Amino acid sequence: MSTKVKILSILLCLAVSGFVYKAANRKTVVKFIPFLFDTKITPDDVLSPGNGIFFIETTDRMDLPSLVLCAVESAARINPKKPVAFFMKGLPDINSVEEHTLALNSFPTLATYNNIYLFPLRMENLLTDTPLLPWYDKVNPKNEIHWSHVSSDASRLALMYKYGGLYMDTDIISLKPVPERNFLVAESSRISSNGVFGFDSHRDFTWTCMEDFVKNYNGAIWGHQGPALFTRVLKKFYCDIPPFKGDEDLKCGNISFLNPRRFYPIECQYWMKFFQVWKAIPTFNESYALHLFNYANRAERRVMVPGSNTLVEHLYIQNCPATYQAVKEKKSTHLTNVL
Ligand SMILES: *[C@@H]1O[C@H](CO)[C@@H](O)[C@H](O)[C@H]1NC(C)=O
Ligand SMILES: *[C@@H]1O[C@H](CO)[C@@H](O)[C@H](O)[C@H]1NC(C)=O
Repeated sequence: MSTKVKILSILLCLAVSGFVYKAANRKTVVKFIPFLFDTKITPDDVLSPGNGIFFIETTDRMDLPSLVLCAVESAARINPKKPVAFFMKGLPDINSVEEHTLALNSFPTLATYNNIYLFPLRMENLLTDTPLLPWYDKVNPKNEIHWSHVSSDASRLALMYKYGGLYMDTDIISLKPVPERNFLVAESSRISSNGVFGFDSHRDFTWTCMEDFVKNYNGAIWGHQGPALFTRVLKKFYCDIPPFKGDEDLKCGNISFLNPRRFYPIECQYWMKFFQVWKAIPTFNESYALHLFNYANRAERRVMVPGSNTLVEHLYIQNCPATYQAVKEKKSTHLTNVL
């Protein structure tokens, strides 16, 4: 394979929060009594300590695939002392603590965790005071073929710059706390993923990425504002990324560049293994989390099936038990309420 073709095939495998597929689900309508208005919980309150974990949903959908719920639940479960903030475009404005409770209660599997916070994703606010705002003011989402990805790429950079913390795509199941700061993850040799990364707030890398995003914007090329952006900024300003020799992590300037095994122990081309039955379930003891390559799965739309004894079923049972129970008992994971 030529390098270009190889890079393209890897890029196509990288995470995509916009298109995690779900099986059909029943809806229940629950009506809540309106409460008196109270003070409001803001992203500043929750994320300012810089230890937050954030997820983004850039589509309007509210009835989420179980994999998205599993990703958020597994992160909250394994990091009970850290706030997990889930930014959703489809959420209405939340103006009080009570409204936040109502919003959270409409996701019964998430509501059992006291460290999960839901916020409406409002890009015009989020991108304020970043190099991305002029781009956002000019771009017309209707003309963008990859808008759910591009808007997610932009939002995660602004969040990381403003607050710092850990970002993960919604097709990543967390196994352990991530002990790293100021890191990127190799999806394969010499190519950075943007599906998971962590920085302190106001770091040069995230700022430079936002500048390059705007300067070299090309919404027609998938991944150009994502993994390709991270890889070119690393190469231009930090180091000539060396190949991995074995299981080691690397340093690229002052940024840690983690071995693919930490998040991608099963490579993209083998994504189907998650949906197969294994003789022995691997321990994944060298991994912090597992990326399930939802984008590679976009045509087949495989989902976790209770009782299938597949690897993904075991991962749900161990890492997102509330989501697993709900799917198993065919319970609704999103109750439509009146906010
Ligand atoms: C990291 O390295 C870059 C590039 O060499 C430099 O501009 C930046 O100041 C460094 N940042 C920190 C926080 O050390
Ligand atoms: C992971 O498990 C393998 C085999 O079970 C073992 O050889 C290896 O030392 C373990 N690695 C770590 C980091 O614990």
